[in-house]
Amino acid sequence: MPDPATVVVERVAELVARLYPAATDGLDLAVRPSEHADAQVNVAMGLAKRVGRKPRDVAEDLVAQLHLAGVCSAVEVAGPGFLNLTYENDYLAELLHAAANDPHLGVHQATTTETVLIDYSAPNVAKEMHVGHLRSTVIGDALVRMSEAVGHRVIRENHVGDWGTPFGMLIEHLIDLGEVDAARELSVGDLDGFYKQARQKFEASPPFQERARARVVLLQGGDTDTIRLWRLLVAESSRYFDTVYRKLGVRLTSDDLQGESAYNDALPTVVERLRRANLLETSNGAEVVFPPGFTNRDNAPLPLIIRKQDGGYNYATTDLACVIDRVERLGATLMLYVVGMPQAQHLSMIETVATAAGWLKPPFRMVHVSFGNVLGSDRKMLKSRVGDAVKLVELLDEAVSRADASIAEKSPELPTADRANVARMIGIGAVKYADLSNDRVKDYVFDWDRMLSFDGNTAPYLQYAHARICSIFRRWGRSRVEVRGVMPTIAHQKERALALWLLQYDSAVWDALERHSPHRLCTYLYELSTRYTAFYEHCPVLKAETDELRESRLALCDLSARILEHGLQLLGIESPEQM
Ligand code: ARG
Repeated sequence: MPDPATVVVERVAELVARLYPAATDGLDLAVRPSEHADAQVNVAMGLAKRVGRKPRDVAEDLVAQLHLAGVCSAVEVAGPGFLNLTYENDYLAELLHAAANDPHLGVHQATTTETVLIDYSAPNVAKEMHVGHLRSTVIGDALVRMSEAVGHRVIRENHVGDWGTPFGMLIEHLIDLGEVDAARELSVGDLDGFYKQARQKFEASPPFQERARARVVLLQGGDTDTIRLWRLLVAESSRYFDTVYRKLGVRLTSDDLQGESAYNDALPTVVERLRRANLLETSNGAEVVFPPGFTNRDNAPLPLIIRKQDGGYNYATTDLACVIDRVERLGATLMLYVVGMPQAQHLSMIETVATAAGWLKPPFRMVHVSFGNVLGSDRKMLKSRVGDAVKLVELLDEAVSRADASIAEKSPELPTADRANVARMIGIGAVKYADLSNDRVKDYVFDWDRMLSFDGNTAPYLQYAHARICSIFRRWGRSRVEVRGVMPTIAHQKERALALWLLQYDSAVWDALERHSPHRLCTYLYELSTRYTAFYEHCPVLKAETDELRESRLALCDLSARILEHGLQLLGIESPEQM
């Protein structure tokens, strides 16, 4: 909609269809950014090949017949046959005005509304949330927000690990501690301590092992008291996860819990349906499926184990039940699995089996939104000083206190009452942005100084750009909404550069969403701040020569600030008005 290229693409397509009706299939009509003009179209090269003419001649013909009055002030043939476009300033102004008055700031809504299910975070009950869970949680949250922003219906699911053999030892340990003490330990977040003690006893004491095994049998058999104790573990852990989610400022709540245990009743049906689909085989006493195309190191077919030799079900069985539930009960056409790279093969096998069984077919699809690791400065997995995995809450608290120290130094005039809140927004924002701004498929190095820096591609830099604009409006002293009625004038080169970028917001959001890659939105916002800064340095705003010019520039400031705030919000990051 507000991207000026949209109209150009339409007009070029019409013209090409009229001039070369037989040569249009699959032709590249994309409008690309260019160093020498506002944008560039490469269609002539493709066409020339198809019709056997020189690209430059084809390009000249197109330019002569293209109707772009009111859209482009110039269309020129360059190089081997590029069409170089320069947009009309008034046209840019109209689009900016429209974006400023659109509740979505120009981001167009999905033409077909989908039900998007996002499976993310997924910590394990009675186990600490580590920095590894940060990635799934913040990437998933950004995908939730972006999907909602374009009008999709979103279902959040937190597929917590709340079932399986470890619960035998965990419940026995809980009994040893006494319910009240155990609950206290878990709810204050000493999940690691709890888990490790249970594990130690299990390893050291054969009688405890016996009790744990017997307890698993009781749990699986649905013994009332055992289930009650298991519920206690789940409830206390989930209460703790909630405090972490609130600290992080993500949308997940305990209502989104849909743990592995939720599928227990459906597991026999999975086996039955696989059998009916003729996919089930017996291998070493276990019931398995051999999905085509998967082999182990010795090139032997790799089984997906559905039911173990002892009759127990598997992680995979649950995930198959999960696909059935998401497709058949929830009608989720797009399922995003925000899960680490190591589970790539597992998820791919699930997808293959669900497809073979006929449960997963278009328009239903699942996508593995995978991600790399968080590394320490030694480029190994991030560890605490004593060599443990880093506890997520501790990391978040440290971020906030570091941010607090830095604003105490940078903005001593900020009232103390506001400072705590601003420090929270900056500290949490910095951690999330450092994660989101890196291409998710890569590992990244966790670096406090870099992520909290007010320079470079960081949250504080973007937040600061936003806060600076808010301060201009405070100094102006009138209501910001007034400038939304203003049709800006685009004249200065830095105004144009900013305007062109503001109009790319729609594409940036869609691009990040369609590739499930929030870092692309980060890159956009960073470039926006850079262009805004250049504009601000060259074009006086409050000191502009005329009232009209001041209001026009204020309109650009307003839209820049709103896109920054909106974009950051899509990433789950808050924007203080003062910092
Ligand atoms: N709880 C699992 C883990 O910690 C992740 C679950 C991911 N989601 C899924 N549907 N398998 O590894």
